[in-house]
Formats: sequence, C-alpha cells, structure tokens
Amino acid sequence: MKPTILLTGKTGQLGSELNRLLPNLGKVVAPDRNELDLREPEKIRQIMRNAKPQLVVNAAAYTAVDAAETDQANALAVNAEGPRLLALEAKEIGAMLVHFSTDYVFDGSKKAPYLETDSANPLNAYGRTKLAGEQAIRESGVTHLIFRTSWVYSTHGRNFLRTILRLATEREEMKIVDDQLGAPTCALDLAEGTMSILAGIFADTKSWQTFAAANGTYHMSAAGQTTWYEFAKAILEAARRAPQDLPWLASATNARALITRRVLPISTEEFRSPTRRPANSVLSNERLSQDFGVTLPDWRNQLQRCFSPKYVPANSLPS
Ligand SMILES: NC(=O)c1ccc[n+]([C@@H]2O[C@H](COP(=O)([O-])OP(=O)(O)OC[C@H]3O[C@@H](n4cnc5c(N)ncnc54)[C@H](OP(=O)(O)O)[C@@H]3O)[C@@H](O)[C@H]2O)c1
Repeated sequence: MKPTILLTGKTGQLGSELNRLLPNLGKVVAPDRNELDLREPEKIRQIMRNAKPQLVVNAAAYTAVDAAETDQANALAVNAEGPRLLALEAKEIGAMLVHFSTDYVFDGSKKAPYLETDSANPLNAYGRTKLAGEQAIRESGVTHLIFRTSWVYSTHGRNFLRTILRLATEREEMKIVDDQLGAPTCALDLAEGTMSILAGIFADTKSWQTFAAANGTYHMSAAGQTTWYEFAKAILEAARRAPQDLPWLASATNARALITRRVLPISTEEFRSPTRRPANSVLSNERLSQDFGVTLPDWRNQLQRCFSPKYVPANSLPS
C-alpha cells in the first residue's frame, strides 16, 4: 500500500530528514509553515481535507525550550492545539497519525531510564505543552504512534552540536552542565528508525491491521546515556579528528579554528538557567525494540556518523 503522506515541519531537524526519506514510502505532501501554520485551525482543516492523507507525520513543533516559558500561548497552540486538530481530522478520514514528543515530559527524579508507563510530570512549559499534545492525540481516538525522543541534534539547524562548535571558535574555556543525564539523538537516526517502522506497517494490508495492536506511545532515542559535558567533549574530539573541509562543519565553525583548550564540568545550579530541566531524562527503548525490532545506535556512533565524509545532510535547513 502506497499511502499519501502529509508531513509537517519539513524545514526542521527531523522534518528535513523525513522529507527526503518518506518519498520511499508514498506520495508526500509537505507544506511549510507559511502554507500550514499549526496555530491556524482553518488551515489545518483545509489541508487535511484537500490532501486526504492515509498517514500524517507531525514533525512540526515549538521546540524553543527557554522561550516557551514566556511564550506559553504560542507553544501550546503549536504543541497541543495543532496536534489535537490534526488528530481529530485524521480520525475523521481514517488516517493514522505519527507524532513526536519529548523526554521533558518527565521530572527527572527517577534513577533509571524512563518507561512509557512512568508518570509524566514536566518541569517546564515546553514539557507541559508537549504532554498536552500527547494527551489530546490519545483522547481523539485516532490510530497513532507517539515517539518520545531526546536531545535531538543535526548538522543543520539550531542545536547543541552546532552551538558547541561555534563556541569552540570563540572561547578557550567552556563550562558545561554535567549533572543532567540524557541520550543525544541525531535527527537522521530518528528519521531512519521512524521510516523502518512505517515501512513495516505499510508493507501490506495485513501489517496495516497488526498496526492497530501497536498503536500507542513509544520511546525512541539513541542507545546509551551521557551528560551535556561529556557530549560537548565528544563533539570537540570528533571535530578535531574530522576532515576540516566537511561542508557542514566548515559552516558551523565559519571555517575558523577550534581554540577551546579546556571544557569544565559545572552543575545545573551554577549554569543558572531560568528554565528547569530534568536531572535524568534517559528513556528506555525496550518497548520499541520488542514491538518493532527497532533499536537506534549508541549516541557515540550517531555522533561519529555526522563527522564521516560519507554523511550527507538534508539540505533544506538553514545552516
Ligand atoms: N530538538 C530537541 O532537542 C527535541 C528533543 C526531544 C523531542 N523533540 C521533538 O522532536 C520533534 C522534532 O523536533 P526538531 O528538533 O526537529 O524541531 P525543529 O528543528 O525545531 O523544527 C521544528 C519544525 O516545526 C516548524 N514549526 C514551528 N512552528 C510552527 C507552526 N506554528 N506551524 C507549523 N510549523 C511550525 C518549524 O518551521 P520553521 O522552520 O519555519 O520554524 C520547523 O519546521 C518535535 O516534536 C520536538 O518536540 C525535540
């Protein structure tokens, strides 16, 4: 079965990777934010009714965690109200919805990786709006998959990887938080994991039927765990070993030399962010592996892949 697919967020880290992979599965309709703003209910209805997709993949989101604290109305509209309408419209036409959520739905007090069955208790506005989006999708009754992921980065866009590389051209010393645990997940690996699940589901009518049993919420993040401090050190090590003419690397550093000599660990308290973040947001990916046979590579391997000369980044993102 070759589905018609409505993809939102095609300019984002994950959306741009999905935008190049999803055509292997079906016909992709991918409006950008100007064509489909998730804060505009009428636009959502109109596009859903015109495109009549069998599959809706919502990679759009309000992801600015700090900004969400003071811009909650917009964050809620994009992360909860928009997805709620997408879900209701999808249910109406019998389409399935694939949606992405976050490790930040958890408060971080657990001392082990979070399971899908653990209680959510977000510490910040971004997490609250994403949780509201999850709940709205479940309540709509649409056939859905919600993939919670963590610490997403890409060689393009705004993310920790590129921030560290830029800072490394400006500062001899960097202080990075070392008491938050998580799993940095590369957008390309996340898109590939999503694709392999969808390819199984849409392979034939029988697998489409078995999908109903797998309907639900899954964690999908890189294997392993680390802290922002260890991640920053791994980024700098990989960048120093990588071919310096890698186009995305040259763009991230403005082709300037890396001058950082010391990376120092600091506590969350010392970092003094006004936004609270969980101390542990490592997700257990067991359920994903059991139900779909999909496991994302270890975070170190995902990072290494970005620095390989063979890595081809999705090109629709601003650098
Ligand atoms: N980034 C992370 O660290 C992280 C961690 C855990 C979970 N997640 C989740 O993973 C998913 C993908 O995140 P990402 O990092 O790929 O996001 P991203 O790079 O920030 O991209 C967000 C996408 O959403 C679009 N968008 C924003 N506001 C919109 C609106 N009002 N209407 C329509 N589109 C809008 C953006 O369009 P423009 O390009 O025009 O702005 C962009 O295409 C999201 O569900 C996110 O919550 C992300």
